Amino acid sequence: MVSTGTGFAKTILFGEHFVVQGTHAIGASLSIPLNVTLTPAEELSINIPTGQIVLDASRKILDAFGLDGNYLIEIDTKIPSGAGMGWSAAYSVALSRAAAAAQGMELTWKRIAEYAYLGEEVFHGNPSGIDNTLSSRRGAILFKKGEDPIPIELGVPLHIVIAHTGKMGITKDLVAGVAQIRAERPDFFLELMKREERLVVEAKKCLETANLERLGELMDTNHGYLKQVGVSTLELEDVVSIAKENGALGAKITGAGGGGCAIALAESKKETETLMQALSSKYLVFEAQIG
Ligand code: PMV
Repeated sequence: MVSTGTGFAKTILFGEHFVVQGTHAIGASLSIPLNVTLTPAEELSINIPTGQIVLDASRKILDAFGLDGNYLIEIDTKIPSGAGMGWSAAYSVALSRAAAAAQGMELTWKRIAEYAYLGEEVFHGNPSGIDNTLSSRRGAILFKKGEDPIPIELGVPLHIVIAHTGKMGITKDLVAGVAQIRAERPDFFLELMKREERLVVEAKKCLETANLERLGELMDTNHGYLKQVGVSTLELEDVVSIAKENGALGAKITGAGGGGCAIALAESKKETETLMQALSSKYLVFEAQIG
């Protein structure tokens, strides 16, 4: 029997990396789908070039559903991989949905997110769980590791431009690098975590009350914290400065960094065009409306 499933891209607005260490973070799902078609086959294979890690994650998810046979897994998506837009989470969610369908199981988004977490563990080693949570449900959330996400009601839709540096960031290594900073400089790191937690709480209020100007400032500050834990790159800094020079209210890394993407907040839909134009000569850009 052929079965299908879908997961969505995501963007982390505030708190990536620090969320792995225990603070809150804010993210939203994006309307960019990843579709998986699962067809019984002679061997486990995927229709696009991927590394062994994708096969390993797939096997783990399929086994968890009691699907110990082999399959052709067909992936169809425009989400770039290794870019901080949640390719691995969208894939793990889509495969979990397809596997559930193959077993005739109807699962809540929460159960799907739990199965998808098994894939994320293979991809990322020590995931906070924010990506698979965002990818399995719609909307913006306040997230803390091990807790149920809290939906955020946006006071106004957010107009975001996402620019991809074209470089791949390896989440597993970047997360391990941040953990090392915490181990080596605990006082410095705990102070940053305290600041990040306060910032996320304020950002949630700004989202709810449509205070976009302050929200942009908080994005800039959050970017500074991410720089301090070593996950920015020359290209990410370039995206952030181009965005700021072209009227972004705020701009920051989104996701693990080390390459991947940065996001810029526009005042309204009209201003996204200036940002898209300014960034698209050097980078692959996506426009996203959140809420
Ligand atoms: O792998 P990415 O780039 O989508 O980012 C994941 C977000 C991190 O906070 C860096 C890791 C995590 O598990 O929360």
